[in-house]
Amino acid sequence: MYNPLIRPRRLRTNETIRRMVRETVLTPDDFIYPLFVTHGKGVKKEIGSMPGNFQQSIDNIVKDCEEAQGLGIPAVILFGIPEHKDEVGSEAYDEHGIVQNAIKAIKDRTPEIIVITDVCLCEYTSHGHCGVIKNGTVQNDPTLELLAKEAVSHARAGADMVAPSDMMDGRVGAIREALDEENFTGIPIMSYAAKYASGFYGPFREAAESTPQFGDRRSYQMDPPNTREAMREVALDIDEGADIVMVKPALSYLDIIYRVKQEFDLPVAAYNVSGEFSMVKAAAKLGWIEGDRVMLEILTSMKRAGADMILTYHAKEAAKLLNK
Ligand code: PBG
Repeated sequence: MYNPLIRPRRLRTNETIRRMVRETVLTPDDFIYPLFVTHGKGVKKEIGSMPGNFQQSIDNIVKDCEEAQGLGIPAVILFGIPEHKDEVGSEAYDEHGIVQNAIKAIKDRTPEIIVITDVCLCEYTSHGHCGVIKNGTVQNDPTLELLAKEAVSHARAGADMVAPSDMMDGRVGAIREALDEENFTGIPIMSYAAKYASGFYGPFREAAESTPQFGDRRSYQMDPPNTREAMREVALDIDEGADIVMVKPALSYLDIIYRVKQEFDLPVAAYNVSGEFSMVKAAAKLGWIEGDRVMLEILTSMKRAGADMILTYHAKEAAKLLNK
């Protein structure tokens, strides 16, 4: 029954009082900014389905990192677009590969920004799968060796953190062991621990040119209806040495973010993926929603659910608004 003595509206009267009781505060410190690096010079090619995001050559990537740093964004994550793709994704672990060169250039110009690298083969393989193929299926154990080589090559180039996104079993352990053998004991692993086979990755595959040429990723990425399986994946990655665990996508998986945060003590990352970004942009362009407002609401919801950090294509525009 309504008790007129109790009026929650008292604490919503004006913006100052709302600021005092606000439980979740978003800051640029929360963001990790994804970048797509490609060969060439002076290249800055906008991704059609991801307005404001580009495939860029290293000279422009470096400028973008300076800008991100200036906005207070602490970290970037790099995705490479190789010159040549082959069956085993050779450029992924080439010491002069596109990502390796980009890491060096960024650490040269903006040494303080944390450079995270996506460790996966799908951008580098001719078939577009995240592992090596034999008899038409993705082979788990032979892929581990290549992922470990890729992670070590990123660390050698100066990466601050590696982020395996392939969803092979045992890859966190394989990467940890390989890094430690090479004396990179101080390089953390952010594992894409609960990564679902999602329709929300569509625009990314245009951006990274990584669409599988046959089949899909359902034999290695998780089935969207599952929760307990996500907890198991996270626990396994932690046992294998993960330092940060990620849930991906984020918006349709806030329950997973929440549960991972409740059940485990590691920092939790949420990946606000390409399709989530593009939906906001498309609806805003049509005038159906207020883009900036919805963007901040979505990012806040991820933090409220438990994310300690958010990988997001909105990073720069959100930071600009939050810095005002
Ligand atoms: C590579 C990878 C993907 C994303 C991040 N790393 C694509 C995929 O798994 O198909 C998706 C990111 C996004 O949609 O923003 N495996």
